Amino acid sequence: MRRSGWRYGQWALVAGASEGLGAAFAAQLAARGMNLVLVARRSHLLANLKEQLTATYGIEVRCFVIDLADPACGEALAESVAGIDLGIVVYNAAFTPVGPFLDAESEEIEQAVDVNVRGPLLALRALVPPMCKRGTGAVVLMSSLAGLQGTPNISVYAASKAFNLILAEGLWYELRSHGIDVVACCAGAMRTPGYVRSFGRDVPGMLSPDEAARRTLDGLGRGPRLVPGRINQITALLMGRVLPRRAAVRLIGRNTKHLT
Ligand SMILES: NC(=O)c1ccc[n+]([C@@H]2O[C@H](COP(=O)([O-])OP(=O)(O)OC[C@H]3O[C@@H](n4cnc5c(N)ncnc54)[C@H](OP(=O)(O)O)[C@@H]3O)[C@@H](O)[C@H]2O)c1
Repeated sequence: MRRSGWRYGQWALVAGASEGLGAAFAAQLAARGMNLVLVARRSHLLANLKEQLTATYGIEVRCFVIDLADPACGEALAESVAGIDLGIVVYNAAFTPVGPFLDAESEEIEQAVDVNVRGPLLALRALVPPMCKRGTGAVVLMSSLAGLQGTPNISVYAASKAFNLILAEGLWYELRSHGIDVVACCAGAMRTPGYVRSFGRDVPGMLSPDEAARRTLDGLGRGPRLVPGRINQITALLMGRVLPRRAAVRLIGRNTKHLT
């Protein structure tokens, strides 16, 4: 199923690629014929994914163990793409502190800020300028339906996802004159290993990670925000446009009550 000549060139980087949605992005990019730079902390998961994708799609895959919570991750990411023309950046990694804000350890809150907020900023500052120089490329930032309003018991995570959404919207406008398509993916719940660890239970309208990644990549160029899945789109409309703010937060609060 290898396709050639996709307008973003030959190479894509997925930050947070070792499992879940990140691994699905990697597979969907590989199916489009892109060579891959895969970044995460667990090298054995990256190595397994590399083996699988090279065997299935005949692409080139380079794996890098980089901690995206590290303030020096921008330099490490820049080194990981030395000598290649990067066409797509997917910043997928996230950390999700679950539970009441007052009960959270400071380290958990800092980790969420480091990985979910500083990480994408450092990644984009390191990776996007060469794409702008070439005049073509795409950026995917992961947001969430949880980032469309305050979300009790995952308040810090939800706020970090709102940050990514607003960042993507601003950059969508700023970077389009440089030939860069930016999109925020406001995904609904997907049964990834991270989701199962943090939340456990299924909700209506869940897409598979593969489906969410496929729809997001199909939506490149149609930014600034994209909500994969019909039920998720209706939820986004209801929460973001129809319900008054207080009602939206109360409604979501009832759904996340079990996380206390
Ligand atoms: N799952 C859902 O229901 C859902 C819904 C809406 C939005 N999202 C968003 O979609 C994205 C992926 O979700 P997911 O459920 O697949 O997440 P996940 O299972 O928690 O996976 C996150 C990925 O990021 C990597 N990562 C985490 N911290 C890292 C760090 N410090 N340095 C490097 N890599 C790191 C992990 O790899 P290592 O641990 O190997 O480093 C893993 O590959 C997230 O941005 C999330 O906010 C998810």
